[in-house]
Amino acid sequence: MATPIQTKFFPNLLFFLSVALLLTSAVSAYEFRVGGPRGWTKPTGDELENYNHWATKNRFHVGDSLYFKYENDSVLVVDKNAYKECNTTDPQLKFVDGNTTFRFDRHGYFYFISGKPGHCEAGERLIIRVMVHSEVMPGAAPSSQPGGGSANTESGAALKTTTAASVLMAALGSLFAISLFS
Ligand SMILES: *[C@@H]1O[C@H](CO)[C@@H](O)[C@H](O)[C@H]1NC(C)=O
Ligand SMILES: *[C@@H]1O[C@H](CO)[C@@H](O)[C@H](O)[C@H]1NC(C)=O
Ligand SMILES: *[C@@H]1O[C@H](CO)[C@@H](O)[C@H](O)[C@H]1NC(C)=O
Repeated sequence: MATPIQTKFFPNLLFFLSVALLLTSAVSAYEFRVGGPRGWTKPTGDELENYNHWATKNRFHVGDSLYFKYENDSVLVVDKNAYKECNTTDPQLKFVDGNTTFRFDRHGYFYFISGKPGHCEAGERLIIRVMVHSEVMPGAAPSSQPGGGSANTESGAALKTTTAASVLMAALGSLFAISLFS
């Protein structure tokens, strides 16, 4: 009596858990506020950390985004060489609206510099490494979020959407519905 139920149940269980995990990674997106409350600006020297120190304390995934808040400045997306040399002449992308959201559409490295003369040299530049989804193990997602404390308020990461739990519950609900009717 129990055997036919088990053989039906476990393939379904595995299938729906896989779907749930895929959906979970697809719907969790974070928006990171670059520079915290200061935003994107030429460093004055009294910062707790520079932009790249901040970046190394966070984990970025495809679908996450950076928010740049700035005034009288710009955000250039450049290649590695232009980043190293602070070369602002031929950026891949240029934003000047003061209020820029940049979403990561692939994994790998992204390089950002200021387009204002002297600003990149003074430290207004940022390297982001975006991880591939396969590096995210189930249960590892919370490490994308900052822990408690004022240093993390400064780092300015914000959880944009966490519907992971509800997606998982919905998937489990479907699992039991299909187990009953198949
Ligand atoms: C931006 O530039 C305008 C005009 O030059 C100036 O009035 C304003 O104070 C500047 N803002 C900042 C934050 O530097
Ligand atoms: C800056 O980049 C442009 C375009 O890639 C290049 O032509 C130029 O030589 C570079 N300038 C310097 C100083 O490297
Ligand atoms: C920045 O952009 C967001 C979304 O595009 C918008 O809702 C917000 O009002 C903007 N803020 C400013 C200060 O321009």
